[in-house]
Amino acid sequence: MSAFELFILLSLLISTLFHAFNCIKRRTQATDSSPLNLPPGNMGWPFIGETIGYLRPYSATTIGAFMEQHISKFGKIYKSNLFGEPTIVSVDPGLNRYILQNEGKLFECSYPRSIGGILGKWSMLVQVGDMHRDMRLISLNFLTNARLKTQLFREVEKNTLWVLDSWQESSSFCAQEEAKKFTFNLMAKHIMSLDPGKPETEQLKKEYVTFMKGVVSAPLNFPGTAYRKALKSRAIILKFIETRMDERIRKSDGDDVERLEDDLLGWVLKNSTLSKEQILDLVLSLLFAGHETSSVSIALAIYFLEACPTAVQQLREEHEEIVNAKKQSGEKDLTWDDYKKMEFTQCNACGKSSSNATMPSPNNFMPFGGGPRLCTGSELAKLEMAIFIHHLVLKYEWKLVESDQAFAYPYLDFPKGLPIRIRRLKQSCYNLKKSSIDNVQNNH
Ligand code: HEM
Repeated sequence: MSAFELFILLSLLISTLFHAFNCIKRRTQATDSSPLNLPPGNMGWPFIGETIGYLRPYSATTIGAFMEQHISKFGKIYKSNLFGEPTIVSVDPGLNRYILQNEGKLFECSYPRSIGGILGKWSMLVQVGDMHRDMRLISLNFLTNARLKTQLFREVEKNTLWVLDSWQESSSFCAQEEAKKFTFNLMAKHIMSLDPGKPETEQLKKEYVTFMKGVVSAPLNFPGTAYRKALKSRAIILKFIETRMDERIRKSDGDDVERLEDDLLGWVLKNSTLSKEQILDLVLSLLFAGHETSSVSIALAIYFLEACPTAVQQLREEHEEIVNAKKQSGEKDLTWDDYKKMEFTQCNACGKSSSNATMPSPNNFMPFGGGPRLCTGSELAKLEMAIFIHHLVLKYEWKLVESDQAFAYPYLDFPKGLPIRIRRLKQSCYNLKKSSIDNVQNNH
């Protein structure tokens, strides 16, 4: 599989993860008996409808038997009943784009009640209208280009090195867990100034794994179900954020807000008029949106690249060239300009080099959604991937220890955790100063 196909697949999988449940209901409540011109489909069993079939795990390199059968029977747009709600499912890129771009005008985003219950009623993923706009502005403010180029750029590299330099020569471990560590630590630092490796950060990361598994699960609130466990994790995560928030308010003596930390929580406390309940849901969902998708992307990159030595070689050449040019000019630290040179990595040049790849129309390619809900973290996500890949290909070779593959549950997961064995490249042109690694580790 070429790097281009990899990127397309990866993006589609992730956008499916986000959009699968983002079934857009017409404002007019359509029912089976309404005179509306509904597409064909099957409403399934009372209440549960077709939810069980829809949630049946499938290999993430396919669209799954449920989708395949429905598309071949009813076409790319069909009606169903999912998560206890009448739903129109669309895998038609044109219609999906039209819906996303007309949100708030012709369509209104709504999640099934069960998912809203887990994300929280004030989560920006669930909010519509003015409240969504205000919360979106907060997240945009937190992810401005200026912040990305200065603070976030350095933090992304620091966190990459923190993870990669902890790998022991010739060791094997679960790459999925390492990718999660990287993206979670980065977000936890920027949202709440949590330090990586600390027990509280580790505990929070664990709660998020349970939380994520329940966001996209059958809404069965019984002991032992993924849904019940996720509700429990949600409560624990909220308590954690609340404690952190109360500490901040106490530390700032109530009136000296300038002393608040320069992270998202500090910014919101200083600059917004949101209530406590609203801030809690906002922080919870930003931490969720900001780490889960990126870690899946990185795990998939590690997985697909392992099967494609030519792409790894091409990547290595691109990154070696960048590092060698720096050496010649006497520069050491990676800069924003270097990042901009990572063209193959960012897949801008992939079309040229992968002659077998079928180019999808750019209009059909929506890995980050679209319209008023276009992902606010897309630039950060691309930066994370590029910097992680930069150091990965220059420092290591890796092989799968045993076969594993990505499954859609429909959240994406490697059942064995993507076990890999690594070998440090002796000839690595990346002559990172020992002191800068020490700095990174001391800072953590
Ligand atoms: C490869 C990584 C990522 C992918 C594929 C991705 C994909 C998406 C998609 C498809 C949406 C739209 C959801 C919808 O229509 O309701 C979205 C929304 C969002 N994403 Fe990302 N995302 C990624 C990384 C990130 C990161 C790193 C952040 C950082 C905080 C982030 C923050 C957000 C936020 C806040 C929203 C909600 C935007 C809104 O409702 O206005 N995402 N993302």
